Amino acid sequence: MHPAAATQPKALDAVFSNMPTVEYDGEEIDCASGERLRDVLLAADASVHNGPRAVSCHGHGSCGTCAVEIRGDAGEPTRRERLRLSIPPHDPDSGLRLACQVRVTDDLAVEKHDGFWGEQKRTTES
Ligand code: FES
Repeated sequence: MHPAAATQPKALDAVFSNMPTVEYDGEEIDCASGERLRDVLLAADASVHNGPRAVSCHGHGSCGTCAVEIRGDAGEPTRRERLRLSIPPHDPDSGLRLACQVRVTDDLAVEKHDGFWGEQKRTTES
């Protein structure tokens, strides 16, 4: 439950009952349903950019630096997202998503991979 929910009138129970949780880098972050994933993480001081955020497109879906792996129902990729993820170093078959294009409507587990664009999936080889 969102910490603010405990102090809200009962009329707002329905609002807080639909607050998905984003798991990222060992943290659990509650947000309002429909918020953009990138905004949720940045508001929690959890950047999805491996390089300086200043060189990103700031959420316009064109730079590709906010790419992340998502477990959970993140909806279908937007047209813009599919287009950017089809341009190297991204691979359209990688399964990565652009955090700035994803609306959070369900609980998600999010992982950022290595590389400037987050395009380098880690392997579990020993
Ligand atoms: S911030 Fe540039 S594509 Fe998401």
